[in-house]
Amino acid sequence: MTKSNADDNNNPASAEDTGALLRGRFSEATDAFVEAFTASVNFDKRLYAQDIQGSLAHAHMLNKLGILNDHELKQISGGLQQIRQEIETGKFSWQVPLEDVHMNIESRLIALIGDTGKKLHTGRSRNDQVATDIRLYLRDAIDRLLQAETELLHAIIDLAEQHTQTIMPGFTHLQAAQPITFGHHLMAWYEMLLRDRERLSDCRKRVNKLPLGAAALAGTPYKPDRASVAAALGFDGICNNSLDAVSDRDFAIEFCAVAALTMTHMSRWCEELVLWSSQQFNFVELPDRFCTGSSIMPQKKNPDVPELIRGKTGRVNGHLMSLLTLMKSQPLAYNKDNQEDKEPLFDAVDTLQDCLTALCGLVPNIQANEDAMYQATLQGFTTATDLADYLVGKNVPFRDAHEMVGQAVQRAVEQGKPLEALSLQELNGPGNNIISEDVYQVLSLSGSVAARDHAGGTAPAQVRAAIEQARLNL
Ligand code: ARG
Repeated sequence: MTKSNADDNNNPASAEDTGALLRGRFSEATDAFVEAFTASVNFDKRLYAQDIQGSLAHAHMLNKLGILNDHELKQISGGLQQIRQEIETGKFSWQVPLEDVHMNIESRLIALIGDTGKKLHTGRSRNDQVATDIRLYLRDAIDRLLQAETELLHAIIDLAEQHTQTIMPGFTHLQAAQPITFGHHLMAWYEMLLRDRERLSDCRKRVNKLPLGAAALAGTPYKPDRASVAAALGFDGICNNSLDAVSDRDFAIEFCAVAALTMTHMSRWCEELVLWSSQQFNFVELPDRFCTGSSIMPQKKNPDVPELIRGKTGRVNGHLMSLLTLMKSQPLAYNKDNQEDKEPLFDAVDTLQDCLTALCGLVPNIQANEDAMYQATLQGFTTATDLADYLVGKNVPFRDAHEMVGQAVQRAVEQGKPLEALSLQELNGPGNNIISEDVYQVLSLSGSVAARDHAGGTAPAQVRAAIEQARLNL
């Protein structure tokens, strides 16, 4: 909890005030433990700006309905703006006995402007208030995340563009499989993260709907103009059903699902960066400023940043599971369970944002060790499929070609040579002469990648086209 500088006169909110605002029907004060147990202000105070924004829009609506006169609207607006300032300058005294961000702000408003402050909550409940606040918060968070994702996509394209001809082994089962280009490999990550960005902006549509007006659960008798409140707050529309508006948190669950998937993609990529920056692969060099040393081993340069992104994926996946479980047994409409939605959601947002920031800094500074990539591609008989395809071109059925090449690979293994170092006779095997001199072009690494010259293939021309298209799309 933030320690406030404000003296008590400045903010007279106290447990007594909570009693005054909420406990009219009770005959005893809240148990001290229960008070702390049910409070959320320590984490939901993060929603103060959205809470004030929502209250201002609500007050304007009450003014249009004639519930607040112009003077009262001015008093409330002024009071809320002062509260925002107090919070932002650290002068606001947050009170746990006031339970949550909403009651803290409301009781401060009453303390500042008197009875007019008591009118603000007309036609509103904390149920539609908190749902509005979270949606406003998440929408703005999504906009920042979309920006970071776009930056990362640009960084990937920029790096891929430098490596449309850089040959490396493509892997299956982490075994060298076929030659590819590093640019092509990077563009695979581009595609995954592009889909993540699409999912995020699609999720935004369902986040950006207004709950206010639903009040506690059934609506209010004041006939609020919900559409104009929605427009004032930048929502694309209203939540159509008041019960649904206050109770469901599917938009937060959906966000966490999108975040978890994005983290999962980034984690896979980071796993590669960890492997590739090891001495065993030596495919890439990560910038020193993104690595850390060991407290005991002076030679170490550890890829902590990609390791942490990989590790933080676990907590975001966990938040998705928390929110699903939070929701699964709730009868309509609002239940206090929903107060537990905030910490997982906030942490999912923060974690995703931090990991995107880290990758945006890291990716442009990845140095490819082109020679090591090339040598590794030479090692693994990665053009064996090209040899089989060559035989198919000479009318050998693919299964027979597969068998012939398998035997050639065996001879190469025995002699400790790459395929292209075998003589024509060794490549053909006893009694065969189908393979002729033109095979050596086919067995070359650059010939192999250039041959995969179709949409989605690894040929440099195709990778360049994919990059060009990506630039247009972004
Ligand atoms: N702090 C609560 C939450 O986060 C606000 C809504 C409380 N509503 C209520 N009826 N207790 O969900």
